[in-house]
This record gives sequence, C-alpha cells and structure tokens, in this order.
Amino acid sequence: MEKPTFYITTPIYYPSDKLHIGHAYSTVATDAIARYKRLCGYDVMFLTGTDEHGQKIETKAAAAGKTPQQFVDEIVEGPGGIRDLWKLMNISNDRFIRTTDDYHVKSIQRIFRKMYDKGDIYKGKYSGMYCTPCESFWTESQLVDGRCPDCGGEVKYAEEEAYFFRLSRYADRVRELLLSGTFLEPASRVNEMVRNFLDCEGGLQDLCVSRTTFQWGVPVDFDPGHVVYVWVDALSNYITALGYENDRYQDYQRYWPADVHIVGKEIVRFHSIIWPAMLMSLGEPLPKKVYGHGWLVMDGGKMSKSKGNVVDPYMLAERYGVDALRFFLLRTFPFGADGNFSNELLISCINTDLANDLGNLLSRTTAMVQKYFGGTLPAEQAEGPEDGELLALAAGLRDRYQEQMDRFQLQNGLAEVFRVVSRANKYIDETMPWILAKTEAQRPRLARVLYNLLESLRLCGTLLRPFMPESMDRLFAQIGAGPEETGWDAAGRWFVLPAQVRVEKGENLFPRIDVQKELEALAKLHAPQKDPVDPVLPEVPFDDFCRCDIRACKVLECENVKKSEKLLRFRLDDGTGTPRQILSGIAKWYKPEELVGKTVAAILNLPPRKMMGQESNGMLLSAEYREGGQEKLRLILLDDGIPAGARFC
Ligand code: ME8
Repeated sequence: MEKPTFYITTPIYYPSDKLHIGHAYSTVATDAIARYKRLCGYDVMFLTGTDEHGQKIETKAAAAGKTPQQFVDEIVEGPGGIRDLWKLMNISNDRFIRTTDDYHVKSIQRIFRKMYDKGDIYKGKYSGMYCTPCESFWTESQLVDGRCPDCGGEVKYAEEEAYFFRLSRYADRVRELLLSGTFLEPASRVNEMVRNFLDCEGGLQDLCVSRTTFQWGVPVDFDPGHVVYVWVDALSNYITALGYENDRYQDYQRYWPADVHIVGKEIVRFHSIIWPAMLMSLGEPLPKKVYGHGWLVMDGGKMSKSKGNVVDPYMLAERYGVDALRFFLLRTFPFGADGNFSNELLISCINTDLANDLGNLLSRTTAMVQKYFGGTLPAEQAEGPEDGELLALAAGLRDRYQEQMDRFQLQNGLAEVFRVVSRANKYIDETMPWILAKTEAQRPRLARVLYNLLESLRLCGTLLRPFMPESMDRLFAQIGAGPEETGWDAAGRWFVLPAQVRVEKGENLFPRIDVQKELEALAKLHAPQKDPVDPVLPEVPFDDFCRCDIRACKVLECENVKKSEKLLRFRLDDGTGTPRQILSGIAKWYKPEELVGKTVAAILNLPPRKMMGQESNGMLLSAEYREGGQEKLRLILLDDGIPAGARFC
C-alpha cells in the first residue's frame, strides 16, 4: 500500500546574521515532528531554507563591502553557516530552498503575473513619511518623535508608484478560514489575528507588494525597476520548492497542500492571512494548518548574548551534545507558549532526565545483565507481582504519546515517555535485582526483571528517537535491539526483544554535568573582555603642536570611493572659500549620507596623499578605541554652531 504523505515546513530564515538558539528551536521542533511522522509510516517531505532578498540584506551586504549574493552565500553555505548548523543539529530536511535559486526566482515572476492577470494585483501609489538614508517609508505612528525610527534622521512626505495586492477582496474567506477551528493553532492566536487585522478600523487593507527603492529582490518582469515584496517572494517558497510554476521539481501534486507550516508567533499574520489569500488568488488549495509556536526569551525579554547566557547553538551543542540540546529545547518549553531560556535550566534538564533517569536506567540495566548473566539473558524467565503496573503503563504509552505528538504537544509527548522511564527505575527499587541475584532459584525471576527493563528501554528509546536520533541508536546497540524491534508497530507491543537478548554495555550516553563548575566556566566565557590601556605617547614640543593647522570644516559632499571598501571621499568647506577634498578610511563606520552637513575637525596642512588614484589634502580627526575586544571608530563631530574655518587652539 502506498504511504500517506505528510508535508511540513519551517520558516525560511533571513541569512542576515548567524542564527541563534531561537531559530534552532523552530527547526529542531519541526525535525522531531518530521521524524515522528516517518516513524509512524508517512512519506514525509520536510522543507527548510533561507529567505535571501530584501533591503535588510542589501544594506548589510553593503556595510560588509560585499555584493548581496556573496554575503548570503557565505552565511548560508560557508563554514559555520546555516547549512552547517543544520547538519550539526542532525536536521533531516528532505529539501533546502534558497530564494535566490534560479527556479524559485522564475516561479515568483510567474506567480506575480498570475495574480496580476487575475486582477488581484494593481498599480497604485504608496505614500508616507520617507527616510532617504534608510530608503524606507514609515507611517506616522511608526515615527519616533517625528523622526525615522531606524536612524533617527529627518523624514519627509513622499509618494512612490507601487503594485498592490487586493488582500481586502479575500477578507471574508480569510475570516472564515481562521474561525474554522483547525487552521490556525494554538487556538489563542485566532482571536488575535481576527481582532487586530480583520476587525480593526478600516478592515483588511490591500498590501503593497512591490518596491522601487532598492534592487535586491525578484524583478517584476513586466515592469523593470520594481522588485517583488520580500514576503510574497518568501511565502511562495512552500510551493515553488515542490515544483509549482517550475520544472525543477515534480512534487506539487503529491505533497501540496502542506500538512503544517511551523512558524514563530511573530510571523503568524503572514502565514494565516496573506499566504492563504495569495493561494486563493492563485486558485490553489490552502495549507491544512499553521502552527505558531512561542519564543525563547531571556528574563522575559529578547535573547541577547550580553546577558551572559549562551545563545550560540554551535557552542551549546559542543558543550552538551547535539541530542541533549535538542531534547532540552523540546522537553522544557510548551511548544505553543514562550519559554524562558537559561543555562541553569539546560544543565538541570540534562542532569535530571538524561543523566539520572534515562542514562542510569540504561547503565544499571546493561551492567546487571553483564554481571549476572554475562551479557545474554536465559530463555527461562518468571513473571512476578511487580510486573503488572510497569507493563500496564507501558502498554498504553504509544497511544498516549501519539495523541500528544499529533497535536504538536511535544513537551507532553516527552512527559509520557519519561513517566515510563521513572516507573522502570522504581521497578528496579521494588524488585531489587541484587537481592534476587543472591539466590540460584531466583534466576528466572531475575532474568525477567532485567528483560522487562530492556523492553522499557526499547519502547522509550523508540519514541525518543525523533528527538535524539543519534543517542537512541547507541542505546539500541547496547540493548541489542534491531530496526524491526524499534519501529512504530513494535512500539505498540511488549515481548518484542527475544528472551535471550544479547546486551553490550557501552559508554555512558549522557554524562552528568557538575552544575557549579559549569556555570562558573560559562560565566568566565562571557565575562566582558578587558580592553588594554593605551599608554600616553612621549612629549612633543608645544611649538610643534602649534604648527598643526586644525580647523572646523562643514561636509559639503560625501560618497564612497569606487572599488574601495574603506574609503569615503569628502568635499569640505574649510573656510578658505575653496572646497577641499579629503579621503578618509571610515566607510566601515559611516554611511556617506549620514555625514553630509555635519561639522567635522580636520588637520589641513599635512602633505597631500594619493589614495585609489585620488588626492587627499588633510585628515579628518576621529577617535579610535576598543570596546569589548572590538575595534571602534567615531568621527570627532563638532557643534554645528562653529563656523567653517574656525581654528583649534
Ligand atoms: O521571519 N524563539 O525569518 P527570521 C523562538 N524570513 N523562535 C525564534 C526565535 C526565538 N527567540 N527567534 C527566531 C523570518 N525564531 C522570515 C520568515 S517564512 C516564509 C519567512 C524563529 O530569520 C521563529 O520560527 O527572522 C521565527 O518565526 C523565525 O525564527 C524568524 O526567522
């Protein structure tokens, strides 16, 4: 019989920076669900990828002196990049899409045109308060004290031609979808969407879906100069990656509609309102579910390294192991709600569940099979009164686990498994194998006790494998369980391992962490680096200093020097009436537009110097220093009341 399909996706992440543990949380959760579904016998398509267009990336790339493509290539494909991170975290995605992939770009152009031909995209005017250096439109309410919320600069009213998507046309159908009960989960997010975006003043507004203020995007093929809005580009990845409007893949019929899009709560709006409306416009089926999970926060606020908590998934995986980290993320926080991340929690979770409960159960059991039976249990075994409770609890485990996992209640699914782990540990205390071992006549009973413990480990290991694939394979190797004995069907039965099972005691799966020592080591790792004191230089005669002609200058023009990552070219009013050209290697620290009109300090009587074929007549004064081990530079900016040419004395 053909397997049923299951299509699951993560958000596609912005490669604007290195990913942190919050991103890993989404992907690890999605991976655990995908692996669980495969275990249940589904033909799973698991998609993840990167969202590579947009102004943010263009700006970041420029600041790094790279082309946007070079910039994203490094973050996505480079060493320690996003692909490497997912490999390290043992993510089992079947496909990885980059929105700069050729086939995706072409599909987006077709999708845009399709919606245009349908009459759902029209040309209109975008207006608002515009900040030139940031190339961004802002609404009045977004402004901070009437200025740009990003750079604090001046904004002015501007209008721009743009394409709009008739989102308003789909308001009723989207409302119906949201209220249908199963589309958006957790259910608490439904009201939020309806209240804030559908029932708000003015109702659901048409959406601006093209930009002309930057280039890094998919060009609208019938109107050059316009690029497709990054969210239209990004959301469509879920279908282009299957072959929608392209020949790269042929999986659209098989896997669409998606069974679930796993997303963080802040992007639920895009997935539960805009995305369904786009699909309605395209006349395609809607995804069956959007699940908006909570955030990992730190002390109630956004994650940040400055608070001393390690948020780098590489570092965490290296210190504690990939599986322990995966497990911690999904065991500790309810998937739908926010969770407060801390190193204390992480260490205590590893010690309690993995080292003490599961790790001990495995090491005690295998050690006893070795010690009392040389590694192989005898066929002759005897049941006893203590078996009933353990077997009864274990008998319903697979169903209880399934019920939780199918609702994406991963934390509860794990809790069910650990109930059995704890019960098995208690069973050791009740049966006291070390006492049984003293009497020859009790050997069949001892054998069955150990057998039941191995069965508990097999069963729990099978259900934990989606969360900790590599460690559970090592567990299976120790208890002598093969693939047949660790499948979904076997997880619903007892007496699966042969009576004469052979056990290999191996190394400890989850070593215990010394909490105090570890927390101290982490604190040291994150102690702010002391910046070295810069010693004062030897004396210079006063007259020498007086010969330096340092003056206030006004910046008339400022621009990047072509082909140079470092240099800015300034035209300055130095008070002499003839504009002066100075080149300064500060492009890493300033955008040229930021400096026009500013009053700066320059030394004017240095010998002229040629740089990149251009002459520099003097030097701008700036302060160089180190902060947190990083080099910093700020120009000396003077009070704008000081006139050009004013001399320093
Ligand atoms: O929004 N806790 O990309 P993004 C939990 N490109 N999850 C977190 C998190 C945290 N602290 N921080 C990030 C984008 N995430 C768009 C998506 S989809 C068509 C386009 C996770 O790189 C969470 O899943 O900003 C969130 O939605 C996603 O990373 C945002 O990643």
